[in-house]
Amino acid sequence: TRRIFSGVQPTGNLTLGNYLGAVKRFVEMQDQDWQTIYCVVDLHAITVWQDPEQLRRATRELAAAFLACGLDPARSILFNQSQVPQHAQLAWIFNCVARLGWLNRMTQFKDKAGKDRERVSTGLYVYPNLMAADILLYHATHVPVGEDQKQHVELTRDIAAKFNNDYGVPDFFPMPEPVIEGTATRVMSLRDGTKKMSKSDPSDMSRINLTDDADAISQKIRKARTDPEPLPSEMDGLEGRAEARNLVNIYAALSGLSPEAVLAEHGGKAFSEFKPALADLTVASISPISAKMRELMGDVAEIDRILGRGADQAAEIAEPILAKTYEIVGMVRSR
Ligand code: TYM
Repeated sequence: TRRIFSGVQPTGNLTLGNYLGAVKRFVEMQDQDWQTIYCVVDLHAITVWQDPEQLRRATRELAAAFLACGLDPARSILFNQSQVPQHAQLAWIFNCVARLGWLNRMTQFKDKAGKDRERVSTGLYVYPNLMAADILLYHATHVPVGEDQKQHVELTRDIAAKFNNDYGVPDFFPMPEPVIEGTATRVMSLRDGTKKMSKSDPSDMSRINLTDDADAISQKIRKARTDPEPLPSEMDGLEGRAEARNLVNIYAALSGLSPEAVLAEHGGKAFSEFKPALADLTVASISPISAKMRELMGDVAEIDRILGRGADQAAEIAEPILAKTYEIVGMVRSR
């Protein structure tokens, strides 16, 4: 059977990239025959400084966003990472399995640490080991993520393989597969078609947030960088046109059409005509979500109850797997 695990950091607003590349797909997967486990990864968030009150708010807001996007706690497990201590426990073991050289190759660390490597937290460095623990703690087999997380899932496989090999337990941790599918696995910045849309970009005009109102969305799309040519009718006409390709991909992901079908419909149009259509589609997709989020945030106690119940369900799966791991490693457990 398949077991899906994925996580999102509660840092700032959820972007259209997070929604199309991850959360929307999480919801689609719960409608299939798989066990689905989704996690608000608050322990990952503090690898860079978080104001405690902000973190608490962002954690609940992200849970509300999951629910508003259609995640159903009756069909999926939804919880925040720190409520299931086994994540941190397994991560320690993986700190002792992963090699320095492996972590040195992680591009997300290099990007986030920048030039000032001496000053970032050690947590940022071992972040991928905690992510491996998230996944392997449930013996998850499939991990839906955006393109930027592929390297971390591959590292997870390396950790699983080395653990199984070192301890002589060939099938203990399964090799999880990254699931990177659809037309929005890498949504790009609206200001620069070579950079991914990100909640940490200094320019708010570079991204669409799930909480943006209709005016903000229309303005951001109207001002999105493009080239002067009209849209092509065929895919090869998008060659070398990163910004145009990005808007077509967003339209495709939101409408459920293929990019080919979007071009068949809109090919030949100028951006002055295509952008308003894209803005309307984006507003129609996102405003029900932000309205629902605001409503859910009116009852924080209920969100906390959902996270607590999810944590209980998650711990029920995690606990025996961690106990077995400790036994394999040679820890004495006498109570
Ligand atoms: P995070 O919080 O940065 O992003 C959450 C999810 O959104 C995807 N994503 C995008 N997809 C398409 N286009 C974009 N511009 C874009 N930006 C973000 C990400 O790929 C991700 O799927 N390390 C993870 C969180 C994590 C995790 C895990 C994921 C922790 N433990 C275990 C999977 C399994 C992260 O920082 O995601």
